[in-house]
Amino acid sequence: MTGQRVLVAYGTQNGGTAGIAEEIAATLEKDGLAAEARPAADVTDVTAYDAVVLGGGLYAGRWHRDARRFARRLKAQLLKRPVWCFSSGPLDATATQKEIPPTRAVQRDMSRLQARGHTTFGGRLEPEPQGWLARSMAKRGMAHDWRDFEQIRGWAHDIAAELHQQPQAREADERK
Ligand SMILES: Cc1cc2nc3c(=O)[nH]c(=O)nc-3n(C[C@H](O)[C@H](O)[C@H](O)COP(=O)(O)O)c2cc1C
Repeated sequence: MTGQRVLVAYGTQNGGTAGIAEEIAATLEKDGLAAEARPAADVTDVTAYDAVVLGGGLYAGRWHRDARRFARRLKAQLLKRPVWCFSSGPLDATATQKEIPPTRAVQRDMSRLQARGHTTFGGRLEPEPQGWLARSMAKRGMAHDWRDFEQIRGWAHDIAAELHQQPQAREADERK
């Protein structure tokens, strides 16, 4: 099946999660889907999309607020389409070494949307990030990019494979 449109929406403070979302969208495109990455705060409607990937940077165990608000605002539309979620956080190699389950707060957001799947990717802390806490972490030597782009592309390929096997959500909506 071709022509399916996929939104990759993200909540970010320092841009690391945006980079992951863009890589996911680029991979989905290579796999024959029409995908675009957009800041979650800018999206007011998802009816033009057949599927949605929603990701958030982790702050104190919760998604960045833009991802949480997106999930709440667009819940009714999201429930009618397949949704996958990701978190980006750990500032070490653990997310590459093993599957890290969603935090409790992310689990709650995901269950509201009946999300099909979730994964956790390593995070990134820049040397001069936004936010005083982030800056103090960077000063303590924690600034590093732990995102694993091979892992990110692998996860996106799996989503593309699932989408190629199912009818388009927009068409399914019209048949109801
Ligand atoms: C104040 C602060 C709190 C954080 N809390 C968590 C956390 O609870 N769990 C986690 O895995 N990572 C945590 N991180 C790491 C961030 O999730 C990581 O830097 C992520 O890549 C940020 O995404 P962004 O660049 O899209 O904002 C925290 C980072 C900062 C600066």
